[in-house]
Formats: sequence, structure tokens, C-alpha cells
Amino acid sequence: MVEEVVEITPVPAAAHAGRGLGGRSSPRRLSEISGDFEARLPLSIGEFARVLGGGIVPGSVVLLGGDPGIGKSTLLLQLALEMAQQVRVLYVSGEESERQIKMRAVRLLRNGNGEDEKDDSGGIASMPEELLLVTETNLNVILEHVTEVKPLLLILDSVQTTYLPELDSSAGSVTQVRETASRLRELAKTSGVAVFLIGHVTKEGAIAGPRILEHIVDTVLYLEGDRFQSYRLLRSVKNRFGATSEVGVFEMRERGMVEITNPSEAFLAERMINAPGSAIAVTMEGTRPLLVEIQGLTSPTSFGNPRRTPNGIDFNRLLLTVAVLTRRVGLHLGEQDIFVNVVGGMAVSEPAADLAVAAAVASSMRNISVRADTVLIGEVGLSGELRMVGQMPARLREAAKLGFRTAIVPRRLRAIEPWPQGIQVVEVRSLRQALEQAFVDDGKGKDAASPRDQ
Ligand code: TYD
Ligand code: MG
Repeated sequence: MVEEVVEITPVPAAAHAGRGLGGRSSPRRLSEISGDFEARLPLSIGEFARVLGGGIVPGSVVLLGGDPGIGKSTLLLQLALEMAQQVRVLYVSGEESERQIKMRAVRLLRNGNGEDEKDDSGGIASMPEELLLVTETNLNVILEHVTEVKPLLLILDSVQTTYLPELDSSAGSVTQVRETASRLRELAKTSGVAVFLIGHVTKEGAIAGPRILEHIVDTVLYLEGDRFQSYRLLRSVKNRFGATSEVGVFEMRERGMVEITNPSEAFLAERMINAPGSAIAVTMEGTRPLLVEIQGLTSPTSFGNPRRTPNGIDFNRLLLTVAVLTRRVGLHLGEQDIFVNVVGGMAVSEPAADLAVAAAVASSMRNISVRADTVLIGEVGLSGELRMVGQMPARLREAAKLGFRTAIVPRRLRAIEPWPQGIQVVEVRSLRQALEQAFVDDGKGKDAASPRDQ
């Protein structure tokens, strides 16, 4: 329990006067307001620009949230280094000393230590002149720095370490975080400086985490990924200037975050062809289709209740899929521990991956592999039926592009347009039929896919 002191007179009346978006407001006709798209600052980190919906909008406030150690400071320092080639950037850190940031910047520079490695991916060519650093946590002082330096881009690491001395509560409390963000929003809207805030997410309850800021800022980005895997997904969950649920894919390397422009290929790179217990799903991340490998492993339970251990998919969806496999397909999974893993540290929340999860588990159980050139797309219903999922053409085109030759998909009720070229589409009604189509013929023939012991 954290005590929150209610401020009776938090802001003097004088301060209130300047709180609108720049002095007094007056209503104007909609037709008279210029509707030109705001000029964005271009950004050469393509995956970042994609998530922002183009470049950086002047006067916007962007919140970047994510678990500690996931790479938030690294990504925004890269952004700062890159933007400082064009405009003045002020990087305020309350977490690291100026020396530490400099050391990180040197690490991010392509020829930072003079050594010339083979890996020339990522990195920025030279130390920019227009990047100013300061270690500061007092927001009033930060605002003074902004007035003095006049940057076009302000980066604040992090919103939890910044505080306003006139408020009683400690840095990181709900009051402080909310007030800090609103002040910065005013700054952005009145002066046109684009503000990037870093916010920490804590797994437990997220006290004063970015959640309370989501309505204050224009754009909320989350950086996600498994700390032990190198892939990072930058996801937009709110964006006043672009599409939401857009993702950018990065990989954390020696020299910072490197964008992955063809993520499906990266996720499938280590796949073992024709190994049982593996199936390829096509999920949609925003507007982008992503092929991911789903692995399943069944192993007889040695004691107690059988365990179900999903990694990267929802626990309850796994239970449902396993129940359908047991009851509608006739697989005896009751005395099996079941493990499911999404390769590459991805988290897949879409029901469209159900079919691939079911196939991976069934494949491991029967010890027959799924055809290597086949993708499986579809939601599994409780009666064992397959249900249609959205954006099928985009998924199929991506699969075709990566060389997959067959897609097993739910049957369409109405065929409005033909399926995309370049991939053979097999429509099936049920999970059982899908599995019959999915497995390789290895001599056991049809028997392999039909329930032997029902
Ligand atoms: P950091 O950006 O400090 O995370 P956050 O600000 O989200 O807490 O990144 C921390 C991790 O990233 C750290 O474990 C080291 C690793 N890292 C690299 O792998 N390569 C790099 O070039 C850099 C700068 C960091
Ligand atoms: Mg950090």
C-alpha cells in the first residue's frame, strides 16, 4: 500500500492560465482549419518509422514501455544518434550517467573502437554534433534546459525517475508520473518539440507504470521480447498518427538494435525440416503477416496430473485445443505432458494459430512430421470445426513468398475472390480433415492421420 497525498492547492492560479494548448482558445470553423498532414521528421530506421506510422510528428508525445533490460534506452539512443544528424536532440537521462551513455553511444557507432569487424550491420557512421546529453531528474530543471537548448526532439529516460519538487510524493508514484507526463505534453503542444518518454513496466501490478499515461500521450509503443532471445518486437498499442497494432521487428546485437526487414525468414531460419512436432502458423501482427514455427512435444506423464506448458501461446487456448484433439480427433492426450513453444520468443495471441498448435501436438504424439512445405491457418472451434480467420489473402501471399507450396485453411462459406496465386490452398471443414492433409505419407498412409484407437 502506498499512501497518495491529495494535493489541495497543487498549482497556483497563475500556472493555470498557461495550461491550454497555448494561451486562450477560440472556436474556429472546421473548414477554416488547415488539414495538411503534419510534416514528419523522416527516420531512416525503417521498422521504427513503420510503427510510428511514418516519421516523427513534431509536437507529439510518444511513450515507450517495456520490461527492464529489454532495450528501451538502447533503441532511443539509436534514435537520438540518428535524428541528431538532421535536428537538435536533447537526451535526458535519470538512470545513467553521461559517461555511461557516451560509452553506449560509442558501442553503437559503426567504427566506434576503431576495430573493423565483419559484422557491419547496424550502427551509425559518426558521432553527431547536435546531440546534447544531460543527467537530470528534476523536471523544472529539464524544462529550463529545453528552453535553453531548443531541441526538436526530447528524449526522457525515464518517466519514473523524473520528479516535480513541488509535489509531495516520491518519484515514480502515480501523482508524479502523471504530472510529469502532462507537463511534457504541454511543452510538446506549445513548442512543437517531439517528446519520447521511456516508461518501465513491472510484471506485478505495474504501479505508476505506463498504463496511467496511455491517455495523456499521443502514441504508446511497447518493446517486447524474451530477454534470453535476441528478437524484439516494437508494437504500437495506441497511435493518434498512424495505424495501431503495427509491429517492427528488431534483433539485439553487439551494436544495438538491428532492424529485421524479413522477420518470417528469421523466425524460420533454424527450423528442422521433417521433424515431428513442428508446424508453421501465419499470424498477423498489425497489417503484417508473420510466419512462425510452433513446436509441440508430448511425453508420458510420470507422476501426478499431466502438465500443459505453453510458451508463447495462451494457456487456456492450449487447454481448449488439447481438449478438442482428445474428444474430436481421438488422440489420447490424457496421460501426456504437453509442451508448446513458439520459436524465436514470439508471443502469439491470435486464434488463427490454433490449427498449427493442434498439428504440432498431434504430430509429436503420433511421431509423424507435418509436411515441410505446408502452412496451417485457422481457428479451432469446440466441435472440432475449423473457423475462418481474417486477412487470409495477405497471409497466403506471405507464405507463398517464402516458398511454401500448400496452405491448409478453413472452408470458405462464400468464395468472393479467388485465392492468391503461387500457393495451393486446401480448404477443410474440420480439424480432423486438416490433420489428414497435413502429415507426410510415411508408409503408414492414411492410417497415420485417422484415429487408430477410437
Ligand atoms: P537497455 O537499453 O539498457 O534496456 P532498458 O533501457 O530497456 O532497460 O538494454 C539492456 C541490454 O541490452 C543489456 O543487457 C545489454 C544489451 N545490449 C546489447 O546486447 N547490445 C548493445 O549494443 C547494447 C547497447 C546493449
Ligand atoms: Mg534503460
